[in-house]
Amino acid sequence: MALRKILEFPDARLRTVAKAVEMVDDTIRVLVDDMFETMYHAQGIGLAATQIDVHLRVVVIDLQDDQNKPLVMINPEFETLTSELDEMQEGCLSVPGVYEVVKRPDHVRLKALNQNGEAYEIEAEGLLAVCIQHECDHLAGKLFVDHLSTLKRSRIKSKLIKQKRLEATS
Ligand code: NI
Repeated sequence: MALRKILEFPDARLRTVAKAVEMVDDTIRVLVDDMFETMYHAQGIGLAATQIDVHLRVVVIDLQDDQNKPLVMINPEFETLTSELDEMQEGCLSVPGVYEVVKRPDHVRLKALNQNGEAYEIEAEGLLAVCIQHECDHLAGKLFVDHLSTLKRSRIKSKLIKQKRLEATS
């Protein structure tokens, strides 16, 4: 297992649209292991391959509570099961230190493959539903800040660029 570097907004590589995984083989399973290690190390609850500059449809999620086991989503697709939107505060390992409220449907049905290439289907609500949508956004080259106003997004962008510059000089 190895730690991978997480890309940070506004890195243009985060805008890449991920390709479907054609075969779930050992290369993919190594990627999944590395993604879990990277996510736990950064104390996140979800990570998309896009965030480590691998442009394949692979996501790992671990809400780290009693009800939910770690989840591997390969080639995920979801449909929303409600028209009602729920507000939840979101953060992202690619947008460090920023937490903003985003509105999303809070009930989805997910179809994906696991690390053995087996298809599964689950229904999710609440935080898990939000997390699934947030990570699927990454695979489409989208970030949670895209759900905010242009003004808010540009403020976050300046803040992160400034932060980076400080880190580089200190
Ligand atoms: Ni994220």
